[in-house]
Order: sequence, then structure tokens, then C-alpha cells
Amino acid sequence: MKLCINDILYAFSYALDCVENELIGIASHHSKRVAYICLILGENLGFNELQLNDLAVCAVLHDNALTEYIHEEGINGIDVVNDKDKINAGVHCVLGEDNLKNFPFNGDVSGAILYHHENSDGSGPFGKTWFETPIYAQLIHIADRIDAEFNLGFLTEEKYEKILKYLNENKNIEFYEDYVDMFIENLSYDVLLKMKDFEIEILLEEKIPRVCKEYSLEQIIIFSDFFANIIDYKSEFTMRHSVNIAKKAAIMAKYYSCDEETTTKLYFAGAVHDIGKLVIDKDILEKPDKLTENEYIYMQNHAYYTYEILRRIRGLEDIASWASMHHEKLNGSGYPFGKTADELGFKERLMACLDIYQALTETRPYKEGLKHDKAISILKNMAQNNFIDESIVNDIEIAFSGK
Ligand SMILES: [Fe+2]
Ligand SMILES: [Fe+2]
Ligand SMILES: [Fe+2]
Ligand SMILES: [Fe+2]
Repeated sequence: MKLCINDILYAFSYALDCVENELIGIASHHSKRVAYICLILGENLGFNELQLNDLAVCAVLHDNALTEYIHEEGINGIDVVNDKDKINAGVHCVLGEDNLKNFPFNGDVSGAILYHHENSDGSGPFGKTWFETPIYAQLIHIADRIDAEFNLGFLTEEKYEKILKYLNENKNIEFYEDYVDMFIENLSYDVLLKMKDFEIEILLEEKIPRVCKEYSLEQIIIFSDFFANIIDYKSEFTMRHSVNIAKKAAIMAKYYSCDEETTTKLYFAGAVHDIGKLVIDKDILEKPDKLTENEYIYMQNHAYYTYEILRRIRGLEDIASWASMHHEKLNGSGYPFGKTADELGFKERLMACLDIYQALTETRPYKEGLKHDKAISILKNMAQNNFIDESIVNDIEIAFSGK
């Protein structure tokens, strides 16, 4: 399947920015600014197009393990980047590097995520000096620290003076001196000023070398699982929900004798159907009581955000539709678009049925999962009320009986 990694990256960075913003209070578009700075430094170092592309991917995904980290550690609202005394910043580096180990990069990027918090004097989480830290990691580190500390989305001359002072004071402490000099030389006040919130996307799009290539279906599964894990780790209430829907979508594809490409696309759609939840506050996702009317409307937005995020991936428009309409109902009472039966195709209907079946049968902290028969009887009831497709419910009944 032909895909442009750049599109996946933009889609992802949008979602990731929302997570960073909520969990550790970093200003939005942070990952894009980090990538942009890295590309300027990388160009200066003479990197070729494929290396620049890899660097951009690593830079955008440098904190990909934040939801997982917060989940594993059970710590909320802690400043992962800056509060080194309270927590071990290295944990999200280890998890983040591991998540990307099968990612189809152009070249070797090992250590890029693992060591993105190392200081040049060896005082970082793993005690590596600049000499022992891969260049990608050092570039991400300097870009990340400066943006996290100063929010380059909003720059003033006074702030710029503080940045220069900070960089110079940290020569060979936090950052290797050559990269400090290169930063100061290439990222002048005027260059940094261009990185305003709404302009950074355009700047980055122009800057990242476009790499579109054929990916094997196995590689698409790797992308899918990567996304699904980040989504699922956002809330322990729905742990494994996306991964399990992806698997069930693939089982149904087999049941319908779909070809391999359609099966993979259905898997992808299942994996990312709730990617919009990354934009929704964790407090609302995990609220134990009934949501108020306003909270419920806000929560419904996740399906729209799923559409907004996925529609950016050229070539996967059909997946954006299948995935984002999993809360639509045949009688038009669903969301986010209020589509009716004649507007909902087979794959959209399948996703809707699978989402409900999975939600009913999975165990969550506040409830035991229902048995297959009980879940099917609820689905049948919904089909009778013209919410979901009856024939798909019957197929699900057969495909998952005894599982
Ligand atoms: Fe980080
Ligand atoms: Fe960061
Ligand atoms: Fe959903
Ligand atoms: Fe869901």
C-alpha cells in the first residue's frame, strides 16, 4: 500500500500535541516546532533527504510514550520534561524508543528517542555525555528543551534574549557547544518568529522532504498498533479497546473473505477509530458518574476529531470515513455527523457494530465484560430499533460464538 509518511506524521503530531498539552502543560504545536528546529540544524549538518525525513519523524514522535508513561507510573500532571527530581524522565524515553523499534525508518535511528533527555555533561537520565549520544538525540534535546522552556509559538525580543542567555550558559552542560553555536547562528530572532502556532504547519510541510513509498501490509499493521497503543494508554478504562477492535475487524474481514489489503485497512480503521479521544480531557473520559449534557456533547467530539486527524492522511480517505462513523446510527440519531442509513456504507456499519460489541464484552475498572450471548442480545435489540445493521449483528454472532 502506498503511503506518505509525512501525512501520517502530521496526523499524529496533531494528536500528540493535544496529549502533551493536557498531560504536561506544554504549549500546542510543540512537536512540530521541535521537528522544524531539528530540520534546520540537520540541513546545516549536511543530512540528506532520507536522513532529514527520519530526523523529522523522530522529532515529532519524541514523546510518543507520554500516555503510556503516565499510565505505567500512575502519575498525573507531573512535569515529565522538567521535573527531574520527582520522576525518572528516562522511563518515557525507554518506552518511546521501544514503541518505534519496528517503525519503517529509512536508516538507523537507534538511540534518537532513548537519549533525547541526555545532557552534554552526562547529567541526564542515562549519564551519557554528548560524545556518547547520537546526533539525532542531541538535536531533539536542544530543540525540545528550548521550546518546552520558552514556548517558541509566542516569541518576544525579550524572550529571545533570554533564550540566547540560556543557550550560552548551558554550553557543554545541557548542550554540546557546537550545536549551541549552530542554533544561535541559524535560528535567529526572525526565523524563530515565523514559528507562530498557525504557521508552523505550513513551514514544516515545506521543510520535510516528502517520502511516499510502498509499505507492506505488515508495516501498516505496525503503524496501526503504534497508534492504537497510544490511544489505549490514554485511559485505563478502555485499555486494549482499540487493539481489540482492530483484531476483531480483521476477523470479520476474513469472515467476509475480504482481500488482504481490505483486511489490513479494516485493521487500521479499528486501531485508530478512537484516535480523537487523544483530544478529549482524561477527566471526562474517566468520569465515574454520568456525564452532564455539556460533557456528553464534548465527549462526542472525539468521533469528529478522529475524522479531522485521519482525513489528513492522503490515500486513506476511506479509512477516515469507516473509523470516524463508529457512533453513527442508521436512524440518523448518531454522531458526529448524524448520517442516515443511505449514507452509511457497509464498513462504517461494521465499525459501529464492533465498537458496541467490544465495549459491552470488555472488562473495565467499574464493570465486568458481558458474555457473548448477552452482548449479542443487546446488539439485536439495537438493530430492531434501527440503530445498527441487523445482518452484521447476525454475522458477529456467528463469527465470535465460542470466543
Ligand atoms: Fe521527552
Ligand atoms: Fe517534548
Ligand atoms: Fe468512540
Ligand atoms: Fe471505541
